[in-house]
Amino acid sequence: MPGSKKTNAAIVALCGSPHTNGNTATALRLLFNELTGISKKIYFAYELAVHPCTGCGFCSREFGCIFDDGMNELYDVLQNSRMLIIASPLYFSHLPSPLKSIIDRCQVFWEYYNRGNTPRQQQYGFALLVGGGNYSTMFMPSVMTLRHLFNSLNYRFDEEKYVLLPDINNKKDIKNDDITKKIATAARYIKKLL
Ligand SMILES: Cc1cc2nc3c(=O)[nH]c(=O)nc-3n(C[C@H](O)[C@H](O)[C@H](O)COP(=O)(O)O)c2cc1C
Repeated sequence: MPGSKKTNAAIVALCGSPHTNGNTATALRLLFNELTGISKKIYFAYELAVHPCTGCGFCSREFGCIFDDGMNELYDVLQNSRMLIIASPLYFSHLPSPLKSIIDRCQVFWEYYNRGNTPRQQQYGFALLVGGGNYSTMFMPSVMTLRHLFNSLNYRFDEEKYVLLPDINNKKDIKNDDITKKIATAARYIKKLL
C-alpha cells in the first residue's frame, strides 16, 4: 500500500468513549494488562477529531483521502498492526459518532481491496463493547457495523469471542469477577492468535 511507515504496536485499540478513564477505557486496560509481552497502543476517537466521510469518491481512484487529519496516522497503523481492538460504549445502541466517522473513513480500504489489491499479512479484528442498559440484542447494531469494518479491512474476526459487557453502570466495581473472567478468556484467545 502506498505511503506506509512502520507502526510498532502489534495490538492497536480504538476507544470510542470520550472518557479516558471511563468504563470502556478501564475494561480495555484490564484486557491490556493480561496481554503481557505484546506491544499495544490506545487511540481515542474523540482526540483524533476525524472529519466525517463525504462520499466524494476520491478513494475509489487512489489510496488516501481528501481530508488531512488523524486518519493519516490511522491508515498507516491499520496496515501494520496485527490486531485492531474496537473498544466502545453504546450510544443509542450504536457506536459513538467520532468512532463511526473513523469507520466510515475506512472506506479507503474497501475501495483499495475492491480494486484487486491483496493484504500483505494476516490481521485480526476484535471488539470490547460496554452498555449501561441490559436488553436483548443490544450489541447487535455495533457488531454488525464492525463486521462490515473488519471485512473491509480484510481482517479475520470471531464475533463469538468479543467481550460484551451490559449493565456496566450497575457493577459497583468494574474489576468484578464476571468481567475479569470474560477479559481473561478474551486475552487467552488473543494470545493464541498473535
Ligand atoms: C449519549 C449516550 C447514549 C447512550 N446510549 C446507550 C444505549 O443505547 N444503550 C446502552 O446500553 N447504554 C447507553 N448509554 C450508556 C453508556 O453506554 C454507558 O454509560 C457506558 O458505560 C459509557 O462508557 P464510558 O464510561 O466508557 O464512557 C448511553 C450513554 C450516553 C452518554
